[in-house]
Amino acid sequence: MLSADFRKPTRTKRVAMIATTALASAGMAALLTGSQPASAVPAPDTRISTPYVVLGWNDLGMHCMNSDFSELMVLPPFNTLHGQLIRRGSSPDIETSTGDFEMRYFIPGNTHSADKTNFWDYWQDWLGPQRPPNIGLAGAGLAGPMSPTGTNDWAVVGIPLVPIDDNGKENPYPLATIEVRQRGTNNVVARTQAVVPVSTEMSCNLCHNLPGMTTATDILLRHDMLHQTDLLSDRPVLCASCHASNALTAWTPSTSKRSATPAIQACEPIASATCTLPRESPARNATETCWR
Ligand code: HEC
Ligand code: HEC
Repeated sequence: MLSADFRKPTRTKRVAMIATTALASAGMAALLTGSQPASAVPAPDTRISTPYVVLGWNDLGMHCMNSDFSELMVLPPFNTLHGQLIRRGSSPDIETSTGDFEMRYFIPGNTHSADKTNFWDYWQDWLGPQRPPNIGLAGAGLAGPMSPTGTNDWAVVGIPLVPIDDNGKENPYPLATIEVRQRGTNNVVARTQAVVPVSTEMSCNLCHNLPGMTTATDILLRHDMLHQTDLLSDRPVLCASCHASNALTAWTPSTSKRSATPAIQACEPIASATCTLPRESPARNATETCWR
């Protein structure tokens, strides 16, 4: 509950104030006659109004991930969310004290992932010691605390979110709630929503669609043919074991397959490498199908 100090005037009071102001003007008085009388029971005010405001955002825009991990992984579920807490005033302050505040996130309607993707089934093939279901590469779950980053905001890194809600419906634009409580009173002093976009729509199948095989097999086959690798016989393949990846390079544990194979090149993240393919692709232009 909010402490009374933080509340704006209740709706009844505001309506009364508006009425007083309006009645002072004859023109406005006419307008009021058709509106709700000030004596009606007001709807409860669910807004939070305190000296604090929190701003929220994700770090990337749309995060893409594989829909199936059984043959290869380009990207895991991995969304990063930031929040900034500001105390309003003529000279506003940015608040980052974990002694005074607790910032948390949760995603209403999308509270578990492990039953919606086979990502966790292949964890040990790539990423070293297994993490519990619903816990991502950097240790974050689908809800939990955010921590100060040291650069004026708070963050949670690598939420293992998938674009399927708890009712099984596809939703690539889930909304996270960010909530800040004051320690001691446990009052919610600020709350906001921020989109955490995630999609499995990488559309590799638009071109990698040789009959009689999966899209992943087609991709691995071409890679082996073009670069003298033997990925087909090393499935499931972690692309980041040889290529740089924002989500994986920094967060893969040192015991992983990634570190067992030395990085052979520090190339662009794979999705963009793929999107800039200069190839004469059949009837399609790569820039049309790649969204970044
Ligand atoms: C617009 C068509 C198109 C799309 C979409 C596409 N590819 Fe390709 N890809 C190609 C073509 C053409 C080649 C080259 C085939 C050849 O030379 O034999 C290729 C080759 C590859 C290769 C072999 C390595 C190399 O040298 O390029 C990999 C790996 C690959 N694609 C991965 C992917 C992934 C992953 C996706 C989805 C994120 C994807 N591709 C989407 C057309 C496409
Ligand atoms: C065992 C190491 C290894 C793994 C694993 C690997 N690659 Fe590669 N990849 C290479 C090598 C080697 C090249 C050629 C590099 C060069 O010529 O500079 C290459 C080239 C590519 C290219 C062409 C880049 C370009 O600039 O022409 C793409 C695209 C690519 N890989 C995508 C992938 C994808 C997607 C995966 C996961 C399915 C993957 N690779 C897994 C070693 C690997």
